[in-house]
Amino acid sequence: MTLLQVQNVKKIYLTRFGSNKVEALKDVSFRVEQGEYVAIMGESGSGKTTLLNILAALDKPTSGQVILDGQQLNTIQERHLASFRRENLGFVFQEFNLLDNFSNQDNILLPLVLSGYKVDEMEKRLMPLAKELDIADLLKKFPYEVSGGQKQRIAVARALIHEPKLILADEPTGALDSRSTESLLNLFGRINGRGQTILMVTHSTLAASHASRVLFIKDGEVFHQIYKGHRSNEEMFLRIQETLTLLSTGGGLHA
Ligand SMILES: Nc1ncnc2c1ncn2[C@@H]1O[C@H](COP(=O)(O)OP(=O)(O)O)[C@@H](O)[C@H]1O
Ligand SMILES: [Mg+2]
Repeated sequence: MTLLQVQNVKKIYLTRFGSNKVEALKDVSFRVEQGEYVAIMGESGSGKTTLLNILAALDKPTSGQVILDGQQLNTIQERHLASFRRENLGFVFQEFNLLDNFSNQDNILLPLVLSGYKVDEMEKRLMPLAKELDIADLLKKFPYEVSGGQKQRIAVARALIHEPKLILADEPTGALDSRSTESLLNLFGRINGRGQTILMVTHSTLAASHASRVLFIKDGEVFHQIYKGHRSNEEMFLRIQETLTLLSTGGGLHA
């Protein structure tokens, strides 16, 4: 089943006074099937964050459309967008985006609190997730009392607590050391293994090598994609590296 459809998405930014146009996305189309783990790579300025913002309904495309689980994002009324995001999407950012004056537990539960869940329902969801992510001992602490890798696991718990259709991650390993990176990538692999669909933007070839498919964007278009198939992470790593070299030297690959 197709979970996400991106159809001919174009995004033009008008700079102040409309004097300059920046074409951040030219014509982006792709689909993500239910249960896939997709990484998106591209050089700085290639439109990755623009694309994620559009997928998250935080920004609107100039033309084209995005359909999540049958629902066209541009038909959702403004006043329903926040709850739509909360109920359908989970976000993981490079900088964690945790609230420092909330305990880790309250950070994780925030999306449920905002949706009006009862305390016992929240607790029922929290403990199994906290155990799975190895953060059960950190729940009463505050974000500033734990390491970067632990913060990111707390952010992943917050993203998962609502059982979202899709996890959107923007450079989730960007602020982590190599050990925490490995632990986060293993975690993403495990949650994908139990059916969670993940779309991750990353600069990191290592991170992308864990995904089941890698899309490369260049000059605002999907330039190429690689399916992992039965390949190991190491083989996938080498293929991604080759593709990035071709991309940066303007080699002759096409999607
Ligand atoms: N709000 C904005 N206004 C004008 N130009 C923007 C804005 N956001 C991004 N851009 C431009 O759009 C292009 C793509 O940016 P971005 O999506 O941030 O790329 P990436 O995340 O791949 O580095 C860049 O040329 C950037 O300068
Ligand atoms: Mg970016």
